[in-house]
Amino acid sequence: QFVPRVFSGIQPTGGLTLGNYLGAIKRFVDMQASGIETFYCMVDLHAITTPQKPDDLRRATRELAAGYLAAGLDPAKSSLFNQSQVPEHTQLAWVFNCVARMGWLSRMTQFKDKAGKNREAASVGLFAYPNLMAADILVYHATHVPVGEDQKQHIELTRDIATKFNHDYGVDFFPIPEPVTEGAATRVMSLRDGSKKMSKSDPSAASRINMTDDSDMISQKIRKAKTDPDALPSEASGLNERPEARNLVNIYAGLADMTVDAVLADVGGKEFSVFKPMLAELAVSKLSPIAAEMARLMQDTAEIDKILRQGAQNARTVAGPILEKTYDIIGM
Ligand code: ADP
Ligand code: NA
Repeated sequence: QFVPRVFSGIQPTGGLTLGNYLGAIKRFVDMQASGIETFYCMVDLHAITTPQKPDDLRRATRELAAGYLAAGLDPAKSSLFNQSQVPEHTQLAWVFNCVARMGWLSRMTQFKDKAGKNREAASVGLFAYPNLMAADILVYHATHVPVGEDQKQHIELTRDIATKFNHDYGVDFFPIPEPVTEGAATRVMSLRDGSKKMSKSDPSAASRINMTDDSDMISQKIRKAKTDPDALPSEASGLNERPEARNLVNIYAGLADMTVDAVLADVGGKEFSVFKPMLAELAVSKLSPIAAEMARLMQDTAEIDKILRQGAQNARTVAGPILEKTYDIIGM
């Protein structure tokens, strides 16, 4: 009985990667085209779960917004805004702090990864972050959440929170949202190590392609990407046990909007010395126009700020009544 609605967000914590693009932003654009109501956020409050310099955060937030716009998100079709400008997110997050159980959050693998060995020194925010993420989604009654594979566990927790709230108060108020992880590139791996996720926090700059890399940089990183000596197989099963080869084929498929099988039907039998330049050409043709548009948009940050303010206003018209109703259900 819930109207289909889409929410997702990205942390403004430094340069966007090809992983963010294929796993998230490109799919945000696809979902915008479906005509469903879409809400896309710069989750600045998530960013501060680890230390951020104020000027870096400010710049990264605008740059992320520029990335959204340059990739094709349209403020006339999607609400684009900063999480901190819509206070209903944090208000609902407090409610969810009181719904979620310590044990549920203790099982989150991303917390374990990010906190590392010294868990006592992690911020409380880093631990409670999935409750805020649940609030980000549910404060819009969002039903669909486009994310990369690494976020699936947090969506599962969001579903648990919605289910427990509905059960505890005997209501059918929050929808049980679905993760949308589709396409060939829901988990883009490092170009240097096929067992690690491509990430903006990887110390090796050669491990990732940034959305702002120029053509030469993109080509060079792909040329130097780790591979194995064999030629490409003609079927996907031939990529088993070949994580680096699989990753490059997945990236090609994601950028070209093709299935892995369709890509291999074309390139099966080719050596990497032939395939890598094809991939580089494709990546440059898709990413360079976005990088150029990002650079253009970043010259007028006042315009970006205006778009985000307007987006926050739109968002509050939906989030406000849902928060009010939540309080009413609780008895406040
Ligand atoms: P990061 O993981 O780069 O720090 P976020 O945690 O803000 O960035 O993630 C933003 C979105 O990008 C999420 O939907 C996440 O699943 C997606 N994402 C991040 N890295 C990858 C990747 N290597 N492959 C696919 N999707 C990714
Ligand atoms: Na992530």
